[in-house]
Amino acid sequence: MAVKLTGRSGSTKLIARRGYGGCDVMSRHEGRVAVVTGAASGIGRATAALLAREGATVIAADVNESALAWTDSEDDIVAAPCDVTDEGANEALVSLAVESFGGLDAAVLNAGVGMSGHIATLPMEQYDRTMDVNVRGVVLGIRACIPAMRARGGGAIAITASTSGQRGDPNMWAYNASKAAVINLARAAALDLGVDGIRVNAVCPGPTITGMTERLKGAPAAFEALRRRTARQQWATAAEVAAVFGFLVSPEASAVTGTAVNADGGIGANTGQFLPPERSTT
Ligand SMILES: NC(=O)c1ccc[n+]([C@@H]2O[C@H](COP(=O)([O-])OP(=O)(O)OC[C@H]3O[C@@H](n4cnc5c(N)ncnc54)[C@H](O)[C@@H]3O)[C@@H](O)[C@H]2O)c1
Repeated sequence: MAVKLTGRSGSTKLIARRGYGGCDVMSRHEGRVAVVTGAASGIGRATAALLAREGATVIAADVNESALAWTDSEDDIVAAPCDVTDEGANEALVSLAVESFGGLDAAVLNAGVGMSGHIATLPMEQYDRTMDVNVRGVVLGIRACIPAMRARGGGAIAITASTSGQRGDPNMWAYNASKAAVINLARAAALDLGVDGIRVNAVCPGPTITGMTERLKGAPAAFEALRRRTARQQWATAAEVAAVFGFLVSPEASAVTGTAVNADGGIGANTGQFLPPERSTT
């Protein structure tokens, strides 16, 4: 595993002292160690950056090694090329956290692939790939974290599910199935691991502008249709979703486990029968 190690000593981070329920939000991850998968772009990249900004040392893992180059200029983020479907690679990420930084407090298991195709015709290899990355990759990530988090006396794991795991989408059955699986996985794993002080939650983003959805810009009708179905008539940014992860894996969320939190702009609140009112332009 190629790894770029940088020290924390040169960090010039500003730690703002802003009160939030007695907690110092901007430094709530100070001294903590986190792993984020799928961190080369989109939601994972925004989450890795947020956790580092709030004080954590972050291991940014992704199968796309060259796209991890953004971490080169970050003092507190270590790039770790890794395929989450590989058991040994997940274990190596946690070993890196333990051996180089003294332990592991948080994991955001976010790597995922989109997949579309009719249920009658999508090649089974593509279904298998979807389940491998989106479900097996998360299971392996959770299992790898357990010994290190137990040794630490606890930890927090958050999984990127989707609003597509809560209902179906035409031609997205494989993705729908994979994201539904990890929502229930978060509940079940939370029950197994609560006794160890390990919390497990899922986040369900709705339409979010990232590498995965960039291609929709070439299909303006689909892009617009998704926007119109949100309550706020707006796609989310990756940073908005990252903010939810920042809370869930922080000590502030100590009572939150075994649940799925929607960060979907309200698209999941809609039965889909009617479009919400359009935002006024005046
Ligand atoms: N963008 C959305 O609208 C949206 C909505 C709901 C859920 N999600 C979920 O958010 C997560 C992040 O996706 P994103 O939208 O930021 O897209 P993205 O394509 O920008 O990021 C996904 C990252 O996962 C990495 N990845 C893929 N397979 C991997 C593997 N086997 N091992 C390690 N890394 C791997 C990719 O290289 C990529 O960097 C995914 O799980 C996705 O399903 C996205």
